Amino acid sequence: MVTLRSYQPNDGPALLALFRDTIRRVNSRDYSPPQVAAWASDDIDTVQWFGRFAGRFVPVAEEDGRPVGFAELEPDGHIDRVYVSADHHGRGVGRQLLAAVVAEARRVGLARLFTEASITARPFFEGQGFVVLAPQVVTLRGVEFVNYRMERVLAEPGAAADGGGRSAFWRS
Ligand SMILES: CC(C)(COP(=O)(O)OP(=O)(O)OC[C@H]1O[C@@H](n2cnc3c(N)ncnc32)[C@H](O)[C@@H]1OP(=O)(O)O)[C@@H](O)C(=O)NCCC(=O)NCCS
Repeated sequence: MVTLRSYQPNDGPALLALFRDTIRRVNSRDYSPPQVAAWASDDIDTVQWFGRFAGRFVPVAEEDGRPVGFAELEPDGHIDRVYVSADHHGRGVGRQLLAAVVAEARRVGLARLFTEASITARPFFEGQGFVVLAPQVVTLRGVEFVNYRMERVLAEPGAAADGGGRSAFWRS
């Protein structure tokens, strides 16, 4: 059974491994080998990569004590990394993670969520109420990528959308 918990500082290496594996096995459907090599690079600065979790709301999905997905919400409503293990796709893990992000956004009074979704993740975000603002081209380690600027305007706190309340994650 997959459950959510908060990020712990010692999660970094497992989440980085999950990140690389997901890009190589899943995003590789939509991005070229040079793009995948740049995105899931072996040369990622781990101190900087782990450091990005600080100050963010980071729900981690785990099964049998091992991380199978994570999401990141920044204080301004930006959703940064959202990754679910290739072995756990299509089981509602991403939806669980996003529900926790939405609940936190509402708790702190954010009016909107926004992200830059990969080609792979765009249908997922559309299914979760996000709309595309514009496609864009970004450069990472000298390689260009297409992704989509997307946003979701949040309903008033207490509205019925998303069940209208805090997820079980919040009661734990
Ligand atoms: C995007 C991602 C996080 C979704 O996680 P997931 O656990 O597979 O998603 P869920 O099982 O919770 O799916 C929720 C809904 O989105 C839909 N969905 C998910 N991925 C989809 C896809 N690629 N295409 C179409 N629909 C998709 C599911 O069918 C499901 O629909 P439903 O609510 O009607 O049943 C996951 O596919 C992933 O890690 N992708 C690669 C990494 C990535 O690109 N991350 C974003 C970086 S910007």
